[in-house]
Amino acid sequence: MVPTQKWRGVPAIAAFFLSGATLVKATPLDQHGAALSVATPTPIVLIPLTSFDSQTDFDKYWDYNYPWGTDHNGAARMNRSQVSLSPPPSSSGTSSNSSGSGTLTLTATRVAGQPAATHANQAIAIHYLSGTVHARHNVVVKSPGGIVEVAGEYKAPVARGTWPASWLTWAGGWPPEVDLAEWKGSGKISFNTFNTSSAVAALDVAYPDPERWHSVRVVMEDENGRDVAARFFLDGRLATTQYGKGFTGKEMYLILDLQMEGSSGSPGPQGETTFRIRNFQVTSTIP
Ligand SMILES: *[C@@H]1O[C@H](CO)[C@@H](O)[C@H](O)[C@H]1NC(C)=O
Ligand SMILES: *[C@@H]1O[C@H](CO)[C@@H](O)[C@H](O)[C@H]1NC(C)=O
Ligand SMILES: *[C@@H]1O[C@H](CO)[C@@H](O)[C@H](O)[C@H]1NC(C)=O
Repeated sequence: MVPTQKWRGVPAIAAFFLSGATLVKATPLDQHGAALSVATPTPIVLIPLTSFDSQTDFDKYWDYNYPWGTDHNGAARMNRSQVSLSPPPSSSGTSSNSSGSGTLTLTATRVAGQPAATHANQAIAIHYLSGTVHARHNVVVKSPGGIVEVAGEYKAPVARGTWPASWLTWAGGWPPEVDLAEWKGSGKISFNTFNTSSAVAALDVAYPDPERWHSVRVVMEDENGRDVAARFFLDGRLATTQYGKGFTGKEMYLILDLQMEGSSGSPGPQGETTFRIRNFQVTSTIP
């Protein structure tokens, strides 16, 4: 369960995994420190951990494809038939303590005979049908001092030609863009923030054991009423901090997609490829 009281700087996803003993200790702290509770705003949950638990949960928070349609800048055309949900491992039973959320699975399947896509006036051959979802409500880091945190666990393919990503892109044009997590067929994970098409903070980080779940958490905080600092954590460790110029107050689409080929090279795999996401949560804190 998600505790309703959290203190600044403690990630929601980490709080989710805190042991019961730690949570019990936290309660007297609140009772003793009036100043502490005044200074600690409660994060608002924009997308809860349950959003992949069922179709009903999903439909409250997500919609299919890109906000602009089925095609983007790679060789996959999106179709909702490539998106599936699996319920939490033990959603029945007596435990109110869910050990995890449902899982979103995006599947890319090689196909022939699809018409080409068009991106930036270029034709792009379509070789796959795949899955993409986007949040129904855009994400905004508010001023002053607003914080948005996106946390999740991913099982992402890293083979050549597979291009899964979790990303934010401005609803009013491009850029700004923040790639919360992107895998470009190299075996590494990339964290990127675009001020312009040429002013880009980009970091590739080693990504061992791609068959296993990895947690990625990005904490985005308004710095000065204009710019946002984005801190990227891989498996609980700070990987990098990047700064987005003028990102504060901008409505950003939140997209989870399994693109193919494009920036990940080609040809991509002949068989099916899956990208899985669970324990995904978005919270917003306004001081
Ligand atoms: C999705 O696929 C189905 C068949 O699998 C097709 O009928 C439908 O037109 C496709 N939708 C899009 C948006 O391509
Ligand atoms: C919570 O779930 C975990 C994993 O299933 C289990 O080990 C633990 O005993 C549970 N705790 C409670 C209080 O039910
Ligand atoms: C983007 O803009 C921010 C704010 O001005 C700046 O701190 C950062 O260095 C810029 N990033 C790049 C890659 O130029």
